[in-house]
Amino acid sequence: MQEYRVYVSQLRVGVFIRLDKPWYEHPFLFGSFKIKNQEQIDTLKELGFSTVICVPEKSDQLPKTTTSHCELTPRDQEGNGQEQAPSPTKALWDMKRERIERLKAQRDRLNRCEKRFEQTLDRVRNMMTNIGTAMPEVVEEANSMVGDMVASFLSDKDVVIHLMNSKSNQEEVCYHSLNTTVLGLLLGREHGLDAEALKKLGVALIFHDIGKQRIPKKILYKPTPLTTPELKLYNLHPTYGEEIVSARVPDFPDDAMKIISMHHETLDGTGFPAGIPGDRIPQLVRMASIADTYDNHCNKLDVNASMTPYQALSYMFGKQNKQLDRELVALFVRCLGIYPPGTVVILSNGCVGMVVAVNIKNSLRPSVLLYDRDVPKNEALVFDLEDDPELSIVKTIHPARLPAQVYDYLNPRMRISYFTDTPGTTDS
Ligand SMILES: [Fe+2]
Ligand SMILES: [Fe+2]
Repeated sequence: MQEYRVYVSQLRVGVFIRLDKPWYEHPFLFGSFKIKNQEQIDTLKELGFSTVICVPEKSDQLPKTTTSHCELTPRDQEGNGQEQAPSPTKALWDMKRERIERLKAQRDRLNRCEKRFEQTLDRVRNMMTNIGTAMPEVVEEANSMVGDMVASFLSDKDVVIHLMNSKSNQEEVCYHSLNTTVLGLLLGREHGLDAEALKKLGVALIFHDIGKQRIPKKILYKPTPLTTPELKLYNLHPTYGEEIVSARVPDFPDDAMKIISMHHETLDGTGFPAGIPGDRIPQLVRMASIADTYDNHCNKLDVNASMTPYQALSYMFGKQNKQLDRELVALFVRCLGIYPPGTVVILSNGCVGMVVAVNIKNSLRPSVLLYDRDVPKNEALVFDLEDDPELSIVKTIHPARLPAQVYDYLNPRMRISYFTDTPGTTDS
């Protein structure tokens, strides 16, 4: 049944409506919602709405039919002319203004986080450029960078994981190094690792794929499946990585070196390059391989073949449960939430949105960027589900299934990249 216009006087609880006014011209948090109580109907009247659009497919019941569907411009908005109750409209506007202020602060904060992400990415890019000529210095630089990250992770502040706006699928190595480092540190912190162990994990993850330098680019970026000889060569990259680092940085910690040489080994012994069984795979390596596996699933060379964050976690938990450490995967899910940033979701009020941030203390109630055709894209509402216990996520959908205008609005990323923020600290 198609949407149609109705008089406000026809409304009742359970009718899903859409307001045909821009978001900033009414005090409701959403431009479309299901009527919950009579007060909302009274508020609509008080605001001068005489008609609204009814969305039958999202309604629990249809509007009263005492009046036929209206033709527009009826004047029943004064509601019998009896305005005696204290107006709820002002309170609504106050709430909304406060929300707009918070949104602005949130947007500023996200911009600063994006800036720090770009700066960190630049540092990683420089490291990768200089690694051939000045490896010990580069490792020192990685130590200092990861040390800063660990210090902020271990502060008492909440850690919020943000989805970063990666515009391109290029420079795969830099993004992958930084992403796995952020993810590995998240998992390590949740597992209770101390600063020293976290630093080893983070630094090793920056360099874990360094052995790929010895693999020809035509193999690394081959769009079709590798042949058996090509695969054999590719599978040597962890060994090459160990050779490169041990030759140039003799004091590289042993625990960290194992991450480089063993990050593709699996608990069932089917991994590469050595097929080492699980009882000989140290915990730091298991953590590193979870971060690595997740990023590989979400960011494949062919963007269309990439899994959504939600699919990646489900796959790791289900299909890869003999290869990855189950308990650590469960912990990883707890960090990212079952709806990690980058997941496109449908909310219980029918809105479509994309998860853009997760507070790891309450990962089941993330922040969601909402699609609303009445709100300009650059002012899109980011709704924190922690603020509204009545709203929840009902399902996830693949971005490819979104209508074109919703896809453009939510702008699903070419790459899923994460960076963290600790609200309450001041940025320099
Ligand atoms: Fe690798
Ligand atoms: Fe990797």
